[in-house]
Amino acid sequence: MPRYDHNFIPVITIFFAAILCIFQLSSSLKIGETCSMDDNKCDGGLRCGTCPASGNTRPRCIRIQPASPTSKVNGLPFNRYSWLTTHNSFALSGSKSPTGSPILGPANQEDDVASQLRNGVRGLMLDMYDFNNDIWICHSFGGRCYNITAYQPAINVLREIQKFLEANPTEIVTIFIEDYVTSTNGLTKVFNASGLSSYMFPLSRMPRDGGDWPTITDMVAQNQRLVVFTSKSPKEASEGIAFEWSFVVENKYGNDGQIAGSCVSRSESSPMNTTDRRLVLQNYFSTNPNVTGACIDNSAPLIAMTNTCQIAAGGRWPNYIAVDFYQRSDGGGAAEAVDEANGHLTCGCPNIAYCRVNATFGTCDIPVLSPPPPAQLPADGSLGGGLGLGNGFIVKSKTYYGSIFITLMLLALDHLKPVGYIWRIPQRGITKLGRSFRIDFRLTTGSTERGL
Ligand SMILES: *[C@@H]1O[C@H](CO)[C@@H](O)[C@H](O)[C@H]1NC(C)=O
Ligand SMILES: *[C@@H]1O[C@H](CO)[C@@H](O)[C@H](O)[C@H]1NC(C)=O
Ligand SMILES: *[C@@H]1O[C@H](CO)[C@@H](O)[C@H](O)[C@H]1NC(C)=O
Ligand SMILES: *[C@@H]1O[C@H](CO)[C@@H](O)[C@H](O)[C@H]1NC(C)=O
Ligand SMILES: *[C@@H]1O[C@H](CO)[C@@H](O)[C@H](O)[C@H]1NC(C)=O
Repeated sequence: MPRYDHNFIPVITIFFAAILCIFQLSSSLKIGETCSMDDNKCDGGLRCGTCPASGNTRPRCIRIQPASPTSKVNGLPFNRYSWLTTHNSFALSGSKSPTGSPILGPANQEDDVASQLRNGVRGLMLDMYDFNNDIWICHSFGGRCYNITAYQPAINVLREIQKFLEANPTEIVTIFIEDYVTSTNGLTKVFNASGLSSYMFPLSRMPRDGGDWPTITDMVAQNQRLVVFTSKSPKEASEGIAFEWSFVVENKYGNDGQIAGSCVSRSESSPMNTTDRRLVLQNYFSTNPNVTGACIDNSAPLIAMTNTCQIAAGGRWPNYIAVDFYQRSDGGGAAEAVDEANGHLTCGCPNIAYCRVNATFGTCDIPVLSPPPPAQLPADGSLGGGLGLGNGFIVKSKTYYGSIFITLMLLALDHLKPVGYIWRIPQRGITKLGRSFRIDFRLTTGSTERGL
């Protein structure tokens, strides 16, 4: 048996210090934990955010992804799910038109459609125009697109959607086209060229009598996983593309849609309680996009409006919840609103998090809530995170043996008892996460826990 003498200790310490650096690089923070805006160390599905407009200045990990609507109860009719939807999905901050012009007009979102899809957005609102002998995504006026309003050729965005559907064979995406295209078969051509046509859910299968839509299972099995609506009714006859307001009711958009307690249909839509339009879309964003106000809008007022619209729509929870700056919130945000709608729709619980897998409708596990963390920064201004006081972090390892190895290293570190800190390992054990393993542990200053 080899024995280590004292001379060996510094070597081990340096070795562990190196390991520690690696941990710090890969560490991540859970929801609500204090983070740094400079390096997003929040766990998957979260981002580091504040909401100064509501006095919430402590950077903490907030949710940007809803739970998968089908994660608890799969295979229901399509209209029994709610999908996170981005308003003007294409209007990104800092966009420059490929024509060379700067884009005039405000942004509505902060990441591109591919990133939105990765974050669980499943409804996209795209404005399409004839431009430069092609179909372009523009945010324009008077029905015409100009260099200064031309975001990009539509095919670029459609190809991003095609790639997503191809890579995710059980996902369903909806596109709402604000349609200014007048060229003959213009939409069909660009959908054909993008490779999306084969995914399109056929108009002939959309129910017009208020009956249920086909089930998710059926849509996936037939690979009809792209639902497309246009704002122009003649496109049903000319190109077989569904006229949105034959199938969807929608409340007012902009400031008119943000009047607390009021959920009234927009002018193009039948009244919210018209139940033969089986799908319900709830808009909630201001007329002038407001990136600083969005964190407030997307939080409690959004959820309040979801309840208001549910009543106005004849007891129907929204199938689409459309917002600006979907990642911004003062807590759970648009993801939370969608989770609540999916709880009601799929399992009869107030949040999908409370649903049991495949349980009888209305069987819920409502957790005991812990008190929320403070909104303000601590007085000394110190930020936690990483190896900071009291903040947990997570090590991801690709292999089981890797995670065992890390655990052993941590136990060794614990044995060495670096001054001022104590490791509690592992706090929650090793969790399998897809193909990687996750160890949760927590670093605390130690005097109370164990004497140093
Ligand atoms: C629009 O951009 C194109 C280049 O893509 C340029 O040739 C054309 O002159 C521009 N039109 C105007 C009105 O600026
Ligand atoms: C779109 O593709 C379909 C199937 O390949 C084809 O039959 C149709 O003619 C195409 N339409 C247009 C307008 O290109
Ligand atoms: C639908 O809502 C309108 C108000 O917008 C109300 O007058 C009407 O009675 C409602 N219809 C049904 C069937 O509930
Ligand atoms: C944006 O929202 C903030 C916070 O609600 C508000 O103070 C500000 O006036 C809004 N800005 C505009 C241009 O509406
Ligand atoms: C839930 O039900 C579906 C359909 O019957 C089934 O495929 C799935 O395996 C079930 N899930 C669990 C966890 O039992």
